Amino acid sequence: MKLVIFGSTGGTGLPLVKQALDKGHKVVAFVRTPSKMPYSHDNLTLVQGDAMNLTDIEQAITPDTDAVISVLAPTKNSPSDMLPRAAQNIIDTMKNTGVQRLIYMSGAGVRVEQDEPGLLDNVIRFALKTMAGDVLKQSELGVEKVKNSGLNWTVVRAPMLTDAEHSGDYRVGWVGVGTGPRLSRADAADFILSQLEEDEYMHLAPVVSN
Ligand SMILES: NC(=O)c1ccc[n+]([C@@H]2O[C@H](COP(=O)([O-])OP(=O)(O)OC[C@H]3O[C@@H](n4cnc5c(N)ncnc54)[C@H](OP(=O)(O)O)[C@@H]3O)[C@@H](O)[C@H]2O)c1
Repeated sequence: MKLVIFGSTGGTGLPLVKQALDKGHKVVAFVRTPSKMPYSHDNLTLVQGDAMNLTDIEQAITPDTDAVISVLAPTKNSPSDMLPRAAQNIIDTMKNTGVQRLIYMSGAGVRVEQDEPGLLDNVIRFALKTMAGDVLKQSELGVEKVKNSGLNWTVVRAPMLTDAEHSGDYRVGWVGVGTGPRLSRADAADFILSQLEEDEYMHLAPVVSN
């Protein structure tokens, strides 16, 4: 498949690019800083840009794209509306080019109707809201745009991410239902790529954890 990956030089993006290439996919990596991409491969193309600029995104998503993946996250100097603006640009470009499949990563602090949060889940979300309320708010807005996009979307929600090694051993559920407090970024990448072949979580936003 030909994949466009946003956030490809981030903590989840790098194992995602590596695993996608290992699986034989063609990868268009959208990067702000090309020198941050350690891999070079015949099937890897870099497109430099800022996800808040529609014209930059239009250079990356083309009609022959099979799926778009976003593992974007706000960084130190990101404006407070980076995620919803980037999501809107990605969605608009996908619609204009006829690309349907979108896998969008976000956090388990963004709640959905299937969640059954326990006391600890609510304490964690309260702490997140207190310490990083703007990140939570823009994450919620980004997910909302994806859910309303009319595309074939899956939102992959993660609890706290770690840099533990790729195990392929993870659980899929909801907040408070069959999931735990951590996920390795490499296993997040594994689950995301598995969703290219499956539609079990189409139009759903499961939580993945180790
Ligand atoms: N961190 C956690 O514990 C945690 C927990 C739950 C869920 N999540 C979610 O998991 C996903 C991945 O998180 P992560 O920790 O792997 O992310 P990360 O390491 O912070 O990487 C974020 C990526 O987004 C890119 N980016 C940010 N603003 C951009 C812009 N305007 N244009 C283009 N690229 C931009 C960054 O580019 P540069 O490389 O150029 O900086 C980087 O590649 C996110 O959806 C996040 O919300 C994270």
